[in-house]
Amino acid sequence: MQITVNGHPHHVSPEPGERLLTVLRDQLYLTGAKYGCGHGECGTCTVLIDDRLAYACITLAESCEGSAITTVEGLADGATLSSLQRAFIAHDAAQCGYCTPGQLVAATKLLATNAKPDEGAIRTAMSGNLCRCGTYPKIISAIQAVARGEFRLAEAAAAPPDGGSASARDANAP
Ligand code: FES
Ligand code: FES
Repeated sequence: MQITVNGHPHHVSPEPGERLLTVLRDQLYLTGAKYGCGHGECGTCTVLIDDRLAYACITLAESCEGSAITTVEGLADGATLSSLQRAFIAHDAAQCGYCTPGQLVAATKLLATNAKPDEGAIRTAMSGNLCRCGTYPKIISAIQAVARGEFRLAEAAAAPPDGGSASARDANAP
């Protein structure tokens, strides 16, 4: 079956009943999305399917035929990390990092939907992503910093005079 992952078309052959997560990791070698609980409870496997948040561990791969999927590997623009990725680094929002790919995908979706979320909206939007290391305050700080435009401003200041592609992208993205 055909799926598009991070903008690239792929032909994959899932086993009957196979979940999207193992197709991404074992067939496409995109290991950013992680296996945690395997039951749709922890969020380490979070991806976007046709722009909707989904737990890849409980999503039947066959149900994704023809869909566009975004994993954490698709958030950066080549070597240029997204604003949220840089904010997570700057705010030290990862300890072991196991939950971080899912957190980033969920936060990216949040800011694409609500560019100026208050803390309550952030907590609600991120409630499907657990962090055993307890970095929640730093994750929230990182998201708030991007919402305030801090990383966008830093990026604009560093942009070349003729405008780089990454800067142009991030002018309209979180
Ligand atoms: S591994 Fe998918 S929600 Fe926990
Ligand atoms: S940083 Fe370790 S589980 Fe979140």
